[in-house]
Amino acid sequence: MALLEVQNLKKYFKTPRGILHAVDDVTFSLEEGKTLGVVGESGCGKSTLGRTILHLLDSTGGKIFFKGEDITVVSRNKLGELREDMQIIFQDPFSSLNPRFSVSQTIREPLELRGRLSKAEMEEEVDRLMEVVGLAPRLRNSYPHELDGGRRQRIGIARALALKPKFIVCDEPVSALDVSIQAQILNLMLDLQEKNGLTYMFVTHDLSVVKYISDEIAVMYLGQMVEKCESDRLFERPIHPYTQALLSAIPIPDIHAQNKRILLKGEITSPINPKPGCRFAARCAYATEKCREPQELREWEPGHFVACCRAEEVSA
Ligand SMILES: Nc1ncnc2c1ncn2[C@@H]1O[C@H](COP(=O)(O)OP(=O)(O)O)[C@@H](O)[C@H]1O
Ligand SMILES: [Mg+2]
Repeated sequence: MALLEVQNLKKYFKTPRGILHAVDDVTFSLEEGKTLGVVGESGCGKSTLGRTILHLLDSTGGKIFFKGEDITVVSRNKLGELREDMQIIFQDPFSSLNPRFSVSQTIREPLELRGRLSKAEMEEEVDRLMEVVGLAPRLRNSYPHELDGGRRQRIGIARALALKPKFIVCDEPVSALDVSIQAQILNLMLDLQEKNGLTYMFVTHDLSVVKYISDEIAVMYLGQMVEKCESDRLFERPIHPYTQALLSAIPIPDIHAQNKRILLKGEITSPINPKPGCRFAARCAYATEKCREPQELREWEPGHFVACCRAEEVSA
């Protein structure tokens, strides 16, 4: 059974110019212990998808199942329970951490709010969590501004782990870090996943990062999931024209490799009051009349889903 199942999830925002379809009819399931990478350009709805699943935002439509239970609408009590099972790690630990809280206070806070441990037990647990994420004990009383980005993200990870969650939305967790530190944090996250059987939804616009960490990858374009399959397969055989363009933009280190970067022309469709049909069509070299109809995410080959009625022609 999948740990998380999302069916036709929608999150719309009312704006002065109309209804903005930030997440539109997204469906997927995620097995326990696996990582789903979610990629796409800035503004395509990755963060909104993660936050809506975690109930940090109310959904507009669709269903969310967690451990087989429908959590689409939850009571206050239930929300408290879910907070233990589902956590988030943010991109910028500096703005998500309270600047007036020391390292130990920050990590202790979720334990205090839940209120099941004695003071001494909490201190012990803070020590343990600091060790788990590789923070030296001497940093206990340091403040976020005294630490570098990597250490700040380690605090964010320790805090997210405090309540022993099953599922963590990782929202661009290494995007603000130096490349040299990114690998350390990614390896820490992989290690923690293995030891604790964690399930991740890993949101990023960085394709090299997503390839490294994901079992499966979902590609989003303007609120919709346009392609999803096993990580290696996506890089080997991208089908959706948008995925192909996205992957073609990755620099290839081989000087003999042909530069086949696909440059997108045409206007970007607005996510406000969008028409039915493929949102990528205006920029797509393969677009025809058929693309004006709603596109269904269909199984192109076992485990490989594509929302493109022209997939046969594109892949020919
Ligand atoms: N609170 C909000 N009110 C109105 N529009 C929003 C709000 N949050 C996000 N959006 C819009 O929803 C779309 C998706 O945003 P977001 O999920 O942050 O994208 P991503 O994380 O992929 O960069 C964008 O068009 C963004 O402007
Ligand atoms: Mg985002």
